[in-house]
Amino acid sequence: MCGIVGYVGSRQAQDVLVEGLRRLEYRGYDSAGVVTLHDEDLKTVKTVGKVAVLMDALSRTPLRGTVGIAHTRWATHGEPTNENAHPHLDCRGTIAVVHNGIIENYVVLKRELESRGHQFRSETDTEVVTHLIEEYAQSMSFSDAFFAAIDQIVGTFGIAALCVTEPRKIFVARRGSPLVLGLGVHRDEFFIASDPSAILTYTRDVIYLEDDEAAIVSENGVETFSLDHLKKEKRVEKIEWSLEEIERGRFPHFMLKEIFEQPKVIVDATRGRLDAKNGQSVLGGLSDVAERLRDVERLTIIACGSAHLAGAIGEYMLEEYAGIPTEIEIGSEFRYRRPIIDPKREAVIAVSQSGETADTIGALREAKGKGALAIGLVNVVGSTIARETEAGIYTHAGPEIAVASTKAFLAQLTVLSLLTVFLGRQRSMSQATGQRIIEELAVLPEKIERILAQNDRIKIFAKKYAHYSSALFLGRKYNAPVALEGALKLKEIAYVHAEGYAAGEMKHGPIALLDKSFPVVAIVTKDSVYEKMRSNLEEVRARNAPILALASEGDDEILRLTDDVLYVPRTIEMLSPILNVIPLQLFAYHMAVARGLDPDRPRNLAKSVTVE
Ligand code: F6R
Repeated sequence: MCGIVGYVGSRQAQDVLVEGLRRLEYRGYDSAGVVTLHDEDLKTVKTVGKVAVLMDALSRTPLRGTVGIAHTRWATHGEPTNENAHPHLDCRGTIAVVHNGIIENYVVLKRELESRGHQFRSETDTEVVTHLIEEYAQSMSFSDAFFAAIDQIVGTFGIAALCVTEPRKIFVARRGSPLVLGLGVHRDEFFIASDPSAILTYTRDVIYLEDDEAAIVSENGVETFSLDHLKKEKRVEKIEWSLEEIERGRFPHFMLKEIFEQPKVIVDATRGRLDAKNGQSVLGGLSDVAERLRDVERLTIIACGSAHLAGAIGEYMLEEYAGIPTEIEIGSEFRYRRPIIDPKREAVIAVSQSGETADTIGALREAKGKGALAIGLVNVVGSTIARETEAGIYTHAGPEIAVASTKAFLAQLTVLSLLTVFLGRQRSMSQATGQRIIEELAVLPEKIERILAQNDRIKIFAKKYAHYSSALFLGRKYNAPVALEGALKLKEIAYVHAEGYAAGEMKHGPIALLDKSFPVVAIVTKDSVYEKMRSNLEEVRARNAPILALASEGDDEILRLTDDVLYVPRTIEMLSPILNVIPLQLFAYHMAVARGLDPDRPRNLAKSVTVE
């Protein structure tokens, strides 16, 4: 989704800004732009397409100046065109604004500003902010005008603005769209970004703005405010991840790198949390609410996309092993359907990689408003969901750069299993059961290595299946959501129309689709529903649909149904999704590559979906 970078200091701003935009490319965008201020003049360059196109344009028309802001836009209001790309300038070209989020009352504001003679050049909601500040600035200082304009906006925003009358300052404000301020190693330089990875090359010392906060950033330092323009002190924090973690290294794509990081993901997500002796998981982030959790009688998991599918597996785990009635809910539905919450006995668990997904945040606020105990299961430290929950467990997957989630999903499953042990042991789970799960979690990294070693074989299958335009993914019980996740990955990055189904549902509809041109990817590993799954595959075979099966090591029987088999190590049923999803991630990845696509940057998708 849209990205913001800003710089003020002694270097040429253009270079810092473009480097920042490059680092934000993974978030998904369709146009880019940059503005710098030099000699009381704002100069912009905007282009449609990749940052490389912008760099090309800048090499022909370099922008001078040591202060500037830049943006990658993911189109919401108006197509991806040069006119709609940010920054947007006011009528006189003296104010420049970049914006992430959506301004809900822009139509009313635009009409009013037009009636006052403002000339609009784009179809965006963002442009109203520029003209609104311009309007106010006629009768007050730029600083006051900035705050007055922000006060008029309904919706979500991360905004950065420059003005020729305050030539060494960047004005920023946040509500709903993340913004971070970076303090340079050289004392006279400061950065702003919508995502810390944009400025990690230059600094690790940052201030996270929270909702309804603003800042004025100059080479003399950072002043932070509430949105009603009152001064506010903020803490400087350290970014913990390294530059290496956000670089591709020897891998052709981030997605492949992140899939291969998964043994380490399990190690990191479980570090210090496995108490094998007592069959317990040690979750320090829950210690403050442990007693309240003991009384909880119902859980609701809220999440979107892949995180929602991880939550669906969590629902199975929590009901079967912790004995707590659990519902999984899509954030965008939950928040608008008047859910019934029992404030005394209910906890809500928000699952999110980014911690910034607008729909999950909306649902979380809805549940909190109704009194539920709010727990976060989040990857990005300090993100909105992490801050707005009463307690939580970080998934520690490290930065996930590829748009399609892989390692973050795996970390979510790992932490959901730890949570299951935690809550289960508070209730009736035996020590022996707890021990079995904890011990198995400890050996999963080695089992994952065995799956990754089959990468070349999976690539061969992907080439074989690359020409199909559709696929049906089937699984049962714990692996029904895995089938949905496999299908989601394939449609996201390989643009294959893939459906994920609980295999028992196949005969209630999708079986009508099957013939020799419609392959089935089936998760048929040895578990409590193995025989049922086998019967479903017989039904598939009878329709001549090609079958790619995911089976447990040593299962030769499966060769009666198909020659295309990927073998995975055995584990306990509850943890089988952690292993089974990996071949499906690799399959989607190689399908995308075989179809000539860039798996890291699928069309139309954004990494962190900060709009509704
Ligand atoms: C799919 C994918 C998305 C995200 C979803 C939620 O590969 O990445 O479906 O899972 O947008 O994002 P987070 O976890 O950041 O809330």
